[in-house]
Amino acid sequence: MSAVSPHQKLLVVDFGGQYTQLIARRAREHRVYSEIAAWDDPCLAEKWAGSKAVILSGGPKSVLDPGAPTIDAGLLRSGKPVLGICYGQQAMAHLLGGRVEKVEHREYGRQMLQPETSSLIPEPGRAWMSHGDSVLELPEGFVVAGSTATCAVAAMENIEKRLFGVQFHPEVSHTDNGSAMLHSFLYGFAEFSGDWTPANFVEDAVEAIRKQVGDGHVLCAVSGGVDSTVAAALIARAIGENLTCVFVDHGLMRKNEARQVIDTFREYVPSKFVPIEASDQFIGALEGVTEPEQKRKIIGGEFVRVFEQHANEIGDCAFLAQGTLYPDVIESGSKTAAKIKTHHNVGGLPDWMKMELVEPLRWLFKDEVRAIGRELGLPSAAIDRQPFPGPGLGVRILGEVNRERVKTVQDADAIFREELERDGLYADIWQSYAALLDVRSVGVMGDERTYLHPIVLRAVVSEDAMTAHAAPIPFETLERVATRIVNEVDGVNRVLYDFTSKPPATIEWE
Ligand code: XMP
Repeated sequence: MSAVSPHQKLLVVDFGGQYTQLIARRAREHRVYSEIAAWDDPCLAEKWAGSKAVILSGGPKSVLDPGAPTIDAGLLRSGKPVLGICYGQQAMAHLLGGRVEKVEHREYGRQMLQPETSSLIPEPGRAWMSHGDSVLELPEGFVVAGSTATCAVAAMENIEKRLFGVQFHPEVSHTDNGSAMLHSFLYGFAEFSGDWTPANFVEDAVEAIRKQVGDGHVLCAVSGGVDSTVAAALIARAIGENLTCVFVDHGLMRKNEARQVIDTFREYVPSKFVPIEASDQFIGALEGVTEPEQKRKIIGGEFVRVFEQHANEIGDCAFLAQGTLYPDVIESGSKTAAKIKTHHNVGGLPDWMKMELVEPLRWLFKDEVRAIGRELGLPSAAIDRQPFPGPGLGVRILGEVNRERVKTVQDADAIFREELERDGLYADIWQSYAALLDVRSVGVMGDERTYLHPIVLRAVVSEDAMTAHAAPIPFETLERVATRIVNEVDGVNRVLYDFTSKPPATIEWE
């Protein structure tokens, strides 16, 4: 699908900084559509020409290093408004004839920033700095726009040419007035009109989907998760019954969740809907299997088999819809991480499923997907849902998966959720769940000895699932959950709370 081109675009040139994605998100929060391009992207000049303004990101290198990331200086002279952030400011200074040097003391953390003649910095405030090099001499035509006790050129500008540099990070929340500074750049100097709104996005996406698929049929496998639900609702708005949504209930969803997913699709997504109840097949295939990656593989394999078995009901589709998001697009290919878990569960698709992809969310961040979902009228239960792994409770039941153990974990999980909601804690938690362990411990109930399995409660706070820490749940809430679980759920005599952060642990137990 082609880019959402009718919008005015901000280009973010990535020099390898850790906040590059955040810059793009901040711009979008200001209703400015932004796209990221690597500094060495062969199409950079073209992308530069197609944008209304540019932000140069931070980066880990020094502009003085041989082979350091850089761009063609001519681009800076092309008349577009440009804001250089951290390394971006240094690159701008260096390329336009200023002088950058390593300074003795690396400046790190929050510093008091004093505006000089600044057009972007509204008032003195704290600014987040992290740099080893500094601009010591300004390029011609620039003035100092702000300084800190140890950094004389904490900000610089050439108003006439609409070129700005800041040594600090306005995109992070630790910088006072950072949002106002970005707003000034985007609206005061780059003159964006703020045309990036959920309503505009829906309109454009509907048109792009119609153009891509014509009279063709689209298949969308839905899990009940936010991404696939919003993608399906969007495509349904564009092509209605030519979209077939298939929901496979593997029997490993949370309590009553499969029912809710079915009801949501029937009520809110006007497409052809094929729910498939396949819990016996999945749970049967998992019999005797305890190794986590093996479970994932079996579940992934069964998904493909179910699709094959129901090919007649599903019908012939030339297109396959996927809820790919922008972070997946920019990160794919650039990662050389060790494999910890297989997160994408349907490994190799069989040939018949290798259809042309329809990915209407590939320009969006997660919070934008939620906004689009609201725009499409989807209910909060579908949009504000916690992320849930594809293999579901299969990776929250340690050891063997069987019907009895699925019920135990579902009942415990439902109690945990109920109590978190009752105490108003659920909305601030990234993921929370109950896991069932495969060790046993001794307890006493009434006058009887018990020898049963423990439930672990896991609740984490996170921004993106890459790192996470244990949610600070009040002791009283945990105690109430524990009491209810041992009293109400068969087969459990002990409840534990997992305090470990990620890393070194992971969010799921398997
Ligand atoms: P971990 O456990 O690796 O999880 O810290 C990070 C995020 O990924 C989810 N997760 C999965 N998602 N299939 C999925 O679709 C999987 O096999 C899988 N394993 C973990 C997890 O819930 C968390 O959001």
